[in-house]
Amino acid sequence: MALSTAVGKVTVCCDSRLRLSGSLESAKPQAAFATDSQWKEAPLVNRGEILAWLREDDKTRLQSLWGRADALRQEQAGDAVHLRGLVEFSNHCARRCMYCGLRAGNRKLPRYRLTAEQVLECARQAAGLGYGTVVLQSGEDPGLDVAWMAGLIGRIKSETGLAVTLSLGERVPGELAEWRRAGADRYLLRFETSNRALFRRIHPPTPGQACDRIAQLHELRRLGYEVGSGVMIGIPGQSYDDLADDVVLFRELDLDMIGVGPYLPHPATPLGRYAGRFRLPAGEQVPATELMTYKVVALARLVCPRANIPATTALATLNPFNGRELGLRRGANVIMPNVTPRDVRAAYEIYPAKACIRESASQCQLCVQRRILAIGRAPGIGPGPAANFRGRQPLPQAP
Ligand code: 5AD
Ligand code: FES
Repeated sequence: MALSTAVGKVTVCCDSRLRLSGSLESAKPQAAFATDSQWKEAPLVNRGEILAWLREDDKTRLQSLWGRADALRQEQAGDAVHLRGLVEFSNHCARRCMYCGLRAGNRKLPRYRLTAEQVLECARQAAGLGYGTVVLQSGEDPGLDVAWMAGLIGRIKSETGLAVTLSLGERVPGELAEWRRAGADRYLLRFETSNRALFRRIHPPTPGQACDRIAQLHELRRLGYEVGSGVMIGIPGQSYDDLADDVVLFRELDLDMIGVGPYLPHPATPLGRYAGRFRLPAGEQVPATELMTYKVVALARLVCPRANIPATTALATLNPFNGRELGLRRGANVIMPNVTPRDVRAAYEIYPAKACIRESASQCQLCVQRRILAIGRAPGIGPGPAANFRGRQPLPQAP
């Protein structure tokens, strides 16, 4: 591949699936697509360009990337910032992911599991705060009963009318199908990295259980879920090539939701303690920075123009001052304010010093609302499905 990063020009396309779209210099806001099929056939960036952007440091050129992502966000997803009330209802986890503070080996973490009544109360509160969606998130909790979960989903749907998003980790098809039948609308499962060897290294499989997150994402699509995935940025051992492949995979999976955030080391995890053993030489290793996160947010918008893309809590943790706002101005259109009861929030410690662990649900709502209005946008109304998902639904039959 011939790639001149100095002028940001891609001269040879290394991926025949992706069309060449000129030099990075021409990355200016433009009207993009009139129809779904148009953008599916003519992506705005190819892999070589993605790689060049990931390595780009020139502030002026980066402005053109931000401008292009923001214009596309406005054109394809609109100005509304959709709000999802996040309920972290259990921090029990059977897995031993090398990066995550909830890992089974972390004996210092006090464990909790909310009752159905408590989760329902959080959902009512989310509805009362004007959110259109509730996200039910947990570790891979071995104590999670499939029927209990289905009953809870059904009650939330019937009592609040909210859209329900699940984020419960790796689950077998039968469970996913039962929760879909119970009314769950969406599922989030990050593939974390498209580099299979790196994934295996940081994510030891459960003995006797197949682990293929990409296959699960396909299964979720087949079941009719709105499908979300994403990656961590700057995982020790993650190269620029890996991250470019991640962005290409967002597109290949035609994701409806894309969540990305910086990797934040947790001292009670092997990756947090022994990062030096995993890290690549300088120049190859992706840094876990705010800037790199904005680049991936913007590129995610370019490859999946009609996806919902959150400005994540991990980004707000790295830059509490205006990380979310910058994310929203560089391609994002969703925020997931926390509605977990305050007394357990600190125990959902996937990484340390997480944003919003001391605030109440209503404090987060006010904070988020103020930030959205300050950048000239407005909170979304209703469940706010991705335009991408809506475009995939069959057209209603004429009477
Ligand atoms: N730093 C940043 N993100 C993390 N996650 C888990 N651990 C960390 C960490 N140490 C992210 C993973 C997971 C999501 C729920 O949280 O991407 O999918
Ligand atoms: Fe929770 Fe700002 S969103 S404090």
